[in-house]
Amino acid sequence: MNNKIYIIANWKMQLSRADAVNLTKKIAAWSEENFSDAIKVIVCPSFTALQAVADVIKSGTISLGAQDVFYHINGAYTGEISVSQLQELGVEHVIVGHSERRLFQKESDDDVNRKIKILLEFNLTPIVCIGETMDERRIGKTDVSIIRQLVRGFEDIKLSPSKRIIIAYEPVWAISPAPPAEPRDAFHASQVIKRILLEFFSPELVANNITVIYGGSVDAGNIVDFIDNNFIQGVLVGGASLKHESLVNLIKKIK
Ligand code: PGA
Repeated sequence: MNNKIYIIANWKMQLSRADAVNLTKKIAAWSEENFSDAIKVIVCPSFTALQAVADVIKSGTISLGAQDVFYHINGAYTGEISVSQLQELGVEHVIVGHSERRLFQKESDDDVNRKIKILLEFNLTPIVCIGETMDERRIGKTDVSIIRQLVRGFEDIKLSPSKRIIIAYEPVWAISPAPPAEPRDAFHASQVIKRILLEFFSPELVANNITVIYGGSVDAGNIVDFIDNNFIQGVLVGGASLKHESLVNLIKKIK
């Protein structure tokens, strides 16, 4: 079992290239002095800042992630970014299916499925976001929503022992500025996710190669409540990852 705690900073469309570089420099300097093998920090800047951020974290302790990818390898797809284009910048992890993309870009479970496939084929780690909306939660359809996203998203996915998938349970209603979910909601979702994944993958792969994390209004004040090695092994952080102090304070809590 991989016991690392993942701290994934999702900077969304919030930072200029210069801001992303400055923030990365500060985090990189801090994490080199405070390096912990038990924690993996991944920063996910906008596409426009990937190269500059990659130059800062070269050979450091922080890993690079992207916020999306297209599912074709190359071709006439105006405005899209391919997996090999991300790979040549040093990207190792890619967020797919974030609820903001599902909402604004109409990203479907089928798109998510194709993106997971291409990422695994190229040995990049997908960070697959799933989670129910407030409406689904209100009518008691939380598990149904999670299961639907998993069943469609993971259809025909091949996973081998050398690859990893991170699944971020992100209830849409808990993304800031909303209040976070209760830790028990996240632990329950993690159990549902793992049970469903056993229908796709062997128990060994589910135990060793799939990491479930939580996202939605995580900050230094609540992170320890969510981390539990049996259920939730990390966090996907938006708002609290945009400033050096708040991100470092959050990481310090789990050192
Ligand atoms: P938040 O964002 O931490 O600002 O709620 C998390 C996310 O949307 O990934």
